[in-house]
Amino acid sequence: MAQNWTPNSWRNKPIQQVPAYPDQAALAATEAQLAKFPPLVFAGEARRLKAQLAKVAEGDAFLLQGGDCAESFAEHGADNIRDFFRSFLQMAVVLTYGAQLPVVKVGRIAGQFAKPRSSNFEKQGDLELPSYRGDIINGIDFTPESRIPAPERQLDAYRQSAATLNLLRAFAMGGYANLENVHKWMLGFVKDSPQGERYKKLADRISETMDFMRAIGITADNQPSLRETDFFTSHEALLLGYEEALTRVDSTSGDWYATSGHMLWIGDRTRQLDHAHVEYFRGIKNPIGLKCGPSLQPDNLIELIDALNPQNEAGRLTLICRFGYDKVADSLPKLIRAVEREGKKVVWSCDPMHGNTITLNNYKTRPFDRILSEVESFFQIHRAEGTHPGGIHVEMTGKDVTECTGGARAVTGADLQDRYHTHCDPRLNADQALELAFLLAERMKTGRDEKRMVVNG
Ligand code: PEP
Ligand code: CO
Repeated sequence: MAQNWTPNSWRNKPIQQVPAYPDQAALAATEAQLAKFPPLVFAGEARRLKAQLAKVAEGDAFLLQGGDCAESFAEHGADNIRDFFRSFLQMAVVLTYGAQLPVVKVGRIAGQFAKPRSSNFEKQGDLELPSYRGDIINGIDFTPESRIPAPERQLDAYRQSAATLNLLRAFAMGGYANLENVHKWMLGFVKDSPQGERYKKLADRISETMDFMRAIGITADNQPSLRETDFFTSHEALLLGYEEALTRVDSTSGDWYATSGHMLWIGDRTRQLDHAHVEYFRGIKNPIGLKCGPSLQPDNLIELIDALNPQNEAGRLTLICRFGYDKVADSLPKLIRAVEREGKKVVWSCDPMHGNTITLNNYKTRPFDRILSEVESFFQIHRAEGTHPGGIHVEMTGKDVTECTGGARAVTGADLQDRYHTHCDPRLNADQALELAFLLAERMKTGRDEKRMVVNG
């Protein structure tokens, strides 16, 4: 167990991005109530994810992590969850088929509510109000009342997470994810797009393979991996009071686990070595992520790895790189070299979203070609360094939104106003997400072919 650590030892450290709750007694009462609620996930599940991520660290699997930038109370509903899950499964099947590697599936969902902000205040006209920090903290409406941090929102976030997780478990284990349904995951509006055509062809090939397997006696009835899938949840553990209340001892191992989600990550703004977030994370046994932005220097990264993964356990730590398409070539190689030099076992994942945000027509957006460009560079750099480009971390939705520009359907700056629904950052729509998956699958296949040629050479 981590030394001198307790679920609340983070309270003695400096902290960034902390909301100013006006009523501290109400906050404490809410946290006490949460501490009595059942865990949302179980330690055994978190260990299972860690074991799968260890395979990614070793180069034998690929991590797909994605979902909303911020989940919202207003958009909570079965249709949204189902459409997200379909879109995610489509990406996963494209990657599995193309890359011929198992895909570890982790949603940014069922707990992704708290948002770090670059500014504490937002100004509209003459009025300045506290920034929106995610539905778990305050409301998005630009009114003084709505922007006051309200503790009881944490209870709503907990309940929404429980309901979302319940549906996701049913989808993953109850037949929806059955590979025999590979054609049914197609979303209406994707159907007639170029990506839809491509997906249909791939789904036809999978169905043919399934027919062949059925003929030799392998079916979804006798082979669970054909009819169900592991699907895990993750979020940025920003609001540490909430996380602390859901941190529990696992009775089988005696270790502490965060039970608000299977995997938690530390954001780029809260990764200071001697601050509260790193302190909290070092004591929980879940698989964890660390966002790595352009300001992170190699020595600092190694110190963080030593603090967060002192046993050098494969699968414990995922480095989620989010540099920007124009900075990745400068930032990534030096981090990879430091990690390799020190023999650290990590998963390298690419978040091509957060370094590529621009403002266009007063909307925060991300040009799809910059997203692709960062992903391409990430793959090329890993190939050149001889390391495994282990995963991708994206903000996406199953809906036909217009939040990121570009893609095969060429969303323009003028289109942004049509269906711009995000509560925080712009997401890929289902079409763009699928397009990205096809590109990734191609890159991964090339990488594997090259490796085989070297091995067989
Ligand atoms: C996010 O993932 O939504 C986020 C805020 O990312 P980062 O910490 O990398 O800026
Ligand atoms: Co975001």
